[in-house]
Amino acid sequence: MAFDIKINKVGQSKINQLDFDNIPLGTSFTDHMFICDYENGEWVNPRIEPLRPIPTHPAAMALHYGQAIFEGMKAYKDPNGTPMLFRPEHNAKRLNLSADRMGMPHFPEDLFVEGLRELVSLERQWIPPQQGSALYLRPFMYADEPFIGMRAATHFKFIIMASPSGPFFSKRIKLWAENYFIRAAHGGTGEAKAAGNYAAAIRPTELAKSKGYDQVLWLDAAEHKYIQEVGTMNIFFKINGEFITPELDGSVLHGITRLSVIELLRHLGFKVTERKITIQEIIEASENKTLEEAFGTGTAVGIAYIQEIGLEGGAIHVSDESPVGLKVNDTLNAIKTGLQKDEFGWMNKVEKELV
Ligand SMILES: Cc1ncc(COP(=O)(O)O)c(C=O)c1O
Repeated sequence: MAFDIKINKVGQSKINQLDFDNIPLGTSFTDHMFICDYENGEWVNPRIEPLRPIPTHPAAMALHYGQAIFEGMKAYKDPNGTPMLFRPEHNAKRLNLSADRMGMPHFPEDLFVEGLRELVSLERQWIPPQQGSALYLRPFMYADEPFIGMRAATHFKFIIMASPSGPFFSKRIKLWAENYFIRAAHGGTGEAKAAGNYAAAIRPTELAKSKGYDQVLWLDAAEHKYIQEVGTMNIFFKINGEFITPELDGSVLHGITRLSVIELLRHLGFKVTERKITIQEIIEASENKTLEEAFGTGTAVGIAYIQEIGLEGGAIHVSDESPVGLKVNDTLNAIKTGLQKDEFGWMNKVEKELV
């Protein structure tokens, strides 16, 4: 469906202020944002406007009751300079999965993708050219209705903003298996990309970093026994030639990189099993030398190779090399940047100037 997206361009772009050889992390933003309002039970007035602060009523319900969800994805350029999005329809679906859990309205999936395409088309100059760089896209929805009281809001905003991100090189990481704090319990909000999930992870992540680890490895809420996921990544283990990743049991984010890595690994001929996996199983696999490699998967980093998992009273040495992880990372990056044929039909090209 074609939507009537009104476009109000900036008079003067800020692009000349950005040093593309030295892009600061998460602090530079493009000139425009896509924005849409929810009122009287429908989404109205989709538009692209100059990026600017939005006046917020102090009683805006997102600030008090946390009805706020988001997505994260990246736009890349192929060798001809054509912008491309990676499986954006999955982000649209996941936003609505989050919206369901948080009592928020669905955002039309085709408008989500069209809004992204229009914004990326307009901001194509902001996609950094260096290999490993991308334009990070942040779609989000929050309750902006001023109201004090516990009920679902009736007024929301949906916004997409864009932030160039410099080259990212996958490194080996160390995880801390957290045995006190939890991220998600059954029946909770774990599979929603809800802002509050991240708020609750900040303190445990800081503590893990103070112990010398890069990110938290979350274990289940009831027994601290089953592995869920990593800070902003899903996790894969290779044991005895087989890949195992925790099943999507309601407490794990439905990672789009996870989905793609499962498809890619199977395409490469590996067996991949989605099931419950305990930290004890990983300890034993490490001890009996059947733990071959492990990696995290996510939009921000692609694949992060796991070297070590720290636990109360010890550490699990995972591996010093991740040959399959490396191969998967290279393949994903080559598909995302058009250097390899997109045989899975994952890329959504923004061929021409849409605006
Ligand atoms: C908690 C969490 N798990 C997993 C992921 C990986 O998801 P994706 O591959 O869609 O980026 C993310 C990143 O968005 C995340 O925040």
